[in-house]
Formats: sequence, structure tokens, C-alpha cells
Amino acid sequence: VAEAKALAKSAGDLDALRTAIEAFEHCELKRGARNLVFADGQPNARVMVIGEAPGRDEDMQGKPFVGRAGQLLDKMFAAIGMDRTSPDAEAALYITNVLPWRPPQNRDPKPEEVAMLLPFVQRHIELVDPDLVVLMGNHACQALLKKKGITRLRGKWAEALGRPAMPMLHPAYLLRNPVAKRDAWHDLLMVQAKLRETK
Ligand code: URA
Repeated sequence: VAEAKALAKSAGDLDALRTAIEAFEHCELKRGARNLVFADGQPNARVMVIGEAPGRDEDMQGKPFVGRAGQLLDKMFAAIGMDRTSPDAEAALYITNVLPWRPPQNRDPKPEEVAMLLPFVQRHIELVDPDLVVLMGNHACQALLKKKGITRLRGKWAEALGRPAMPMLHPAYLLRNPVAKRDAWHDLLMVQAKLRETK
């Protein structure tokens, strides 16, 4: 963890951060993964989305949220006029995960893996410097809020690294529980309202 902290701190921009993560050899996950999944979207975005970990499709393509859950995530944000390809900071998204490598068989991240890699995620947020953060699912909330229980946390503003953070139900969960999409819709509208308020 000390080495991750030192490496993360010394990264002065996103390219340097990516290089620092690539050079970090202390996480077992790296050996099982095909690609580093660093981020996608626009670094000037006002909103930064933080997921859990790459799945199979993400591992193959080296990009976050490109599988089924990712397609739903894109649809959800499109519904409030936002997308990861937009050059306009107001409409843009920047997307990353707590873990940059796929866990074997998509198992849950281990607390020690999250703890080890957390300095990189924290630095990632500092460098992108978004106005607000969306935390997708339990693992992102645990890592950045130190709180468990997404069903209680969702829909209420929290704070991550000094900025507003909205915990939301993970799109992979929504695929299994479509009824919960109305909760996600509520939370997306809160994000949209906050963006307007803080313009
Ligand atoms: N689920 C995540 O949390 N992140 C991804 O990148 C893909 C699926």
C-alpha cells in the first residue's frame, strides 16, 4: 500500500497515473487479467462514474463498462442527456472502476485488493477533478465512503474526497432486478439537479 501511495502521489497527470498503475506489480489481479482497464470518457467531464471492476468484455477491450451492464449504464445517462463521448463538459462522462484489473471469474474484489489499489483511485479523482462523483454499487461505496449497504445509501448525497458523491444501484444489479430501475431513475434526476444547481 505504501508503494501504491507513493506511485499515485507522484503521478502529475492521467497519463502518468496510467503508467504508474501499469508499473505496479504488487497486485495478483494483474497477472490474471488480459488488459489494464484504466478509464473511458472525457477528462473534462463534470461527472465521474466509479464502478467496481472490469468484467469479461471490459478485460478484453481494455475499457470500462462496455458489456451488458455498460450498455445499460450508457442508456441510463443518455436519459439525462449525458454520454461518455460528448466533447461538451456539461454532457460528458468520465468512467473508471475501483479495480483496474478483472478479478478471476468475476469474483468480488477482496478488501485487501481494494485497500492496495485505493490510492490510485483517489489520485484518479483528484486529477480528473469532477464536480461530482457517482458511485456504482456496494464496492465503490465501500471503497470511497467506507460505508456498506447500497440499498440504504443510494439516492442520498454523500461526500467523497470533498465532493458530492451519489451512491447508485449498479447496472448489473438492475439487469437482474429491473423493478429497481425506478430507484436508479430517481438518483439520476438527483445528479441532473445537482449539476444544474452547481453550474
Ligand atoms: N461492472 C463494473 O463495475 N465495471 C465495469 O467496467 C463493468 C462492469
